[in-house]
Amino acid sequence: MNDVLTLLKFLCQPSGAGGTDLLDEYQRVFAQTITGSNSMLALAFWRGRVALWTILRACGLREGDEVILPAYTCDMVPIAVKFAGGKCVYVDVEPGGFNSSLEHIADSITNKTKAIICQHTYGIHQPAHKLAALISNRPITLIEDCCQLISSDSSHGTVAIAGDAAFFSTQWSKPFSTGLGGMAVFSNNKLYAASRDILAAFSQEANRRRAQSLALQLLLYRLTVRPKTKAMIAFLYRWAQRVGMVKGTTTPEEFDDRMPSDYLRGAVNVQAVIGEKQLKQWDKNVKHRRMLTEFYLKHLPELGVDITPMKAGEEKPALWTVPLFVENAGQVLSRAGRLGLPVASWFGPPPVHIVSPSAKRFDYRIGQCPRSEWMVAREIHLLTSPEVTAKQAGDAINLIKQHGRIANY
Ligand SMILES: Cc1ncc(COP(=O)(O)O)c(C=O)c1O
Repeated sequence: MNDVLTLLKFLCQPSGAGGTDLLDEYQRVFAQTITGSNSMLALAFWRGRVALWTILRACGLREGDEVILPAYTCDMVPIAVKFAGGKCVYVDVEPGGFNSSLEHIADSITNKTKAIICQHTYGIHQPAHKLAALISNRPITLIEDCCQLISSDSSHGTVAIAGDAAFFSTQWSKPFSTGLGGMAVFSNNKLYAASRDILAAFSQEANRRRAQSLALQLLLYRLTVRPKTKAMIAFLYRWAQRVGMVKGTTTPEEFDDRMPSDYLRGAVNVQAVIGEKQLKQWDKNVKHRRMLTEFYLKHLPELGVDITPMKAGEEKPALWTVPLFVENAGQVLSRAGRLGLPVASWFGPPPVHIVSPSAKRFDYRIGQCPRSEWMVAREIHLLTSPEVTAKQAGDAINLIKQHGRIANY
């Protein structure tokens, strides 16, 4: 209800919503809450992909420089690398896991490597400090993709950043949401200063309009989305995007490797205010996700799922979602959607680099990373978000038990 009143106020005052005077405090609180440290510097962006683009440019990436990244990732990652002028060098997922192995990442380094993106897929922590040590004497920037990471250390519930910088997304489905939003957090002060200068040059054009549109979308989301209605609302949202009523999180130009004219944008006040409210609930959010992760990990072995890689050495991980693979993903998802159960998929259509017509444009060769391709086609995941109840989590497990054809690579 609190958010509803704030959003209504923003809708009536678009200049306040589209302002940027509240960002300094939001950046400070974000860095402090998420990393548990007062010394980390953060910059807020309109979306996570823009944070990545900015870090890449700030590290001096030039046309044709290589950027190593996981093949099993969100479309927006290779697209941002291409927009920044880099060449994507993909690394497959390690056998039996969800992240790329550090050995394979290290093997992909050449004298053209300018940056490495180390992704913590589903919130499964990748030991980035080992990678940092491996490249410490080379002019390579280590960027952690923390868009799905909740915590890297279950005893503190915070994210330790071992790379030069990390980027986060606060998009609809992410660990906490401002609708759209992104943040970069830096341990390298020079990279921070260069990123801040790049961000300062972004246009502020149409800030009010974007902020108002986001406030309206957030308001509708808060008023209408419940586990039972989520699938139907998602369907309506995609329809509204298709007919041009709302601008979605991604535009067709991006999939076509053309940077939209309003791609490079910083964050606005509406994101700062909603973000800070979410950060106040962060400990509760992490605790809930840890509880549901534990519940799923207890029951998945009954279905024949190997949960070892999801623990990644942690006794009690808090995951963004708990993944598994089924041969009939479409069927399970539509059944779960009809029943309003917390089962979703990271991938509707496959990521753009894994689709034949566009693969080459994104420096990918079909068949290059077979494990990632296999996973993309079969992935479903169990949600741990704060609105999911233990009863719904149990019903989701039962649904998969009855209808899912579990697949093992
Ligand atoms: C792993 C990963 N990286 C990057 C992104 C891009 O974030 P955004 O949509 O905020 O640009 C996402 C979000 O979907 C993601 O899941």
